[in-house]
Amino acid sequence: MLKGTFPLDKFKDLATPFYYYDVALLKRTLDVVCKESSAFGYHVHYAVKANANPRILSLIASYGLGADCVSGGEIQAALDAGFPARKVVFAGVGKADWEINLGLDKDIFCFNVESKEELRIINELAAQKGKVATVALRVNPNVDAHTHIKITTGRKENKFGINLSMLNEVIDELVKMKNVTLTGLHFHIGSQITDLSTFQNLCIRCNELQDDLENRGVKIENLNFGGGLGIDYYHPNHLEIPAFENYFAVFHKLLKVRPGQQVHFEPGRSIVAQCGSLISRVLYVKEGEVKKFVILDAGFTELIRPAMYDAYHRIENLSSEGAVDTYDVVGPICESSDVFGKEVELNATRRGDFVALRSAGAYGEVMASQYNCRSLPKAYYSDTL
Ligand code: LLP
Repeated sequence: MLKGTFPLDKFKDLATPFYYYDVALLKRTLDVVCKESSAFGYHVHYAVKANANPRILSLIASYGLGADCVSGGEIQAALDAGFPARKVVFAGVGKADWEINLGLDKDIFCFNVESKEELRIINELAAQKGKVATVALRVNPNVDAHTHIKITTGRKENKFGINLSMLNEVIDELVKMKNVTLTGLHFHIGSQITDLSTFQNLCIRCNELQDDLENRGVKIENLNFGGGLGIDYYHPNHLEIPAFENYFAVFHKLLKVRPGQQVHFEPGRSIVAQCGSLISRVLYVKEGEVKKFVILDAGFTELIRPAMYDAYHRIENLSSEGAVDTYDVVGPICESSDVFGKEVELNATRRGDFVALRSAGAYGEVMASQYNCRSLPKAYYSDTL
């Protein structure tokens, strides 16, 4: 079985479970992101929600990317890590007053506004500070992302964004407001999108919308297409860097960019997923009547994606080259959803073996919880271990 390379000799003294980040891979990924986006002059704001580990954040900031934040906490984490405020965008359907105030105080690049109700509050809070907030309207373009229902965001029935049919009314209200200025349109239709035709549909919808707005005399300086590019969870050892070239090429080919208009993206998963693995030890190999269970010391408290979205993560036994056998791989949490994989093929597995759950750099560590009074996982990095 082809496996990732891990420094097992260094792991042996560490308490499990923990996250392990391949920093060289993250750097290679960032090199590709920067090269492919700058080829078209696109701006990239890393989606902090995917992984807000300070070391990872500051590495990403050092590549000159901006930050896409969805809370005051994320804005603060991004600024602490070195992202400049002028490259911070702030989305979210429920921005609290203190979070809006933080964005105003720090003079962030843009508020991605999700409703007229929110717009009014931003206008009010900006007026109290004698400021003018720069806003983009997050449009719900009613484009199906063809991904898991729990990570689909751009359909009419989702809570996100302003419905297309209501956009004109919101813009009419906005242009009369004194303390907000419209700078752009924002879209984000979902996550783990692997079919690039979905982004083609988004471009087409955006072109139509821009024509409409132009006819009404509305000028749009910035277009932001959110994140969503998927990764290959099945082949992390072969396809470790997503095809950013093809992704950006879709927009370059289809999007009708107006002179001077700037195009932005907010990738999260595609930047950090493949560089992270959750490393655990096998506690028991339990023989059931019909199954063999590998019971790990990691559970859904450390990686919730399989339990929450039925997500697949490749599982590798790093300590064994023995004959392949079939196991259900589970965690120790007292819930039957604490299963990482059923009928998983692993090299013959024994107590004490190291097991890696791959492609866990995005929405892994950052979604960990302390349920069952467990401790949050530690993180180690390939270049400092
Ligand atoms: N921009 C906005 C406004 C978003 O809501 C998201 C993700 C992104 C950018 C980044 O999307 P990405 O490039 O990572 O697909 N916890 C789930 C994923 C939730 C995504 C939420 N929004 C998971 O583990 O699959």
